[in-house]
Amino acid sequence: MSQFTPRVLSGMQPTGNLHLGNYLGAMLNWIRMQETHETLYCVVDLHAITQGVTVWGGPTVLRKAILDVTAAYIACGLDPKKSIIFNQSQVAEHAELAWVFNCVARLGWLDRMTQFKEKAGKDKERASVGLYDYPVLMAADILIYKATHVPVGEDQKQHLELTRDIAQKFNLDFAESIAAQGHGEAFFPITDPVIQGPATRVMSLRDGTKKMSKSDPSDLSRINLTDSADDIARKIRKAKTDADGIPSAAGGLKGRPEAENLVGIYAALAGQGVEQVLAEYGGGQFSAFKNALAELAVLKLAPIAGEMNRLLADPGYVEAVLKDGSDRARAIAQPVMREVRKIMGFVVS
Ligand code: TYM
Repeated sequence: MSQFTPRVLSGMQPTGNLHLGNYLGAMLNWIRMQETHETLYCVVDLHAITQGVTVWGGPTVLRKAILDVTAAYIACGLDPKKSIIFNQSQVAEHAELAWVFNCVARLGWLDRMTQFKEKAGKDKERASVGLYDYPVLMAADILIYKATHVPVGEDQKQHLELTRDIAQKFNLDFAESIAAQGHGEAFFPITDPVIQGPATRVMSLRDGTKKMSKSDPSDLSRINLTDSADDIARKIRKAKTDADGIPSAAGGLKGRPEAENLVGIYAALAGQGVEQVLAEYGGGQFSAFKNALAELAVLKLAPIAGEMNRLLADPGYVEAVLKDGSDRARAIAQPVMREVRKIMGFVVS
């Protein structure tokens, strides 16, 4: 039995609109877990600035993006009464613990992070230090709340492994002090990733080998949570497929990334397994399947944009949610940070 109370934390970056990958890979599990766990959902605005101001767009863009993503969280079904919804920059302990973790994590660990390599591109000398350090801040986001479970999409797996490594090294490096301060064998939990469902890696609608992402120049590659019903249906009908039909069993999707992606999306939206979807549509053509998928996607996603617009008509409400959430988050984070300072030998008055 773990000495840690189950607690869930996750976050999304306020850079551009949320899309179907965010929704199916992470949000569906966030919504599910708020019914069973203590949950904290963060708008990671400090992460949003890691690519330099020309990429994140400056103060007006950032402010709007934070409010938009908060509204999207609520519109998707997060309930500010059940979950703590807040923005990272209002809880200073995230950045403070990140500094401590900078002195625990090793360069070699960060050098292995594939997301940095992808985002920095060829000219890594010009990438910001923050972009390189990004996963350390992410570990601090999680461990400042001693979170035990982190629901994310497949692409965050490596960052969560780093989080576990940092927790483990901190627990080992300071084992004596941790025990002397009455925390037993470990101060930080070894967090479990929650990567679950039929769509943990949603791919681009134009190229089944590329991840669906905010940064793809083609808007046809993704479904944004702000898209109209017409746009959603159009993008699905235009989605790339291969020449074969729908197979009757999951084995028939092997080596067919576009087909696998669309079937996975259907399954996740319908709350079914892939086999169940294939049992219904196997043997049919993609044209008919795409019509069914478009109908389902419009049914599930179009109301989110409407609800977001309703919420954003009253930005005061959205800001109040963030203030209340940040106050509640800080009440958990501050005592943890104080214990970290004591464990490490800083003078705490
Ligand atoms: P971000 O903002 O890129 O994505 C937010 C969440 O959406 C998931 N996701 C996807 N899932 C499936 N298919 C896709 N195509 C897809 N694209 C995105 C991501 O896996 C993620 O769960 N580093 C994080 C934010 C973060 C965080 C944290 C997460 C900062 N601190 C602490 C958890 C805990 C990120 O950039 O996510």
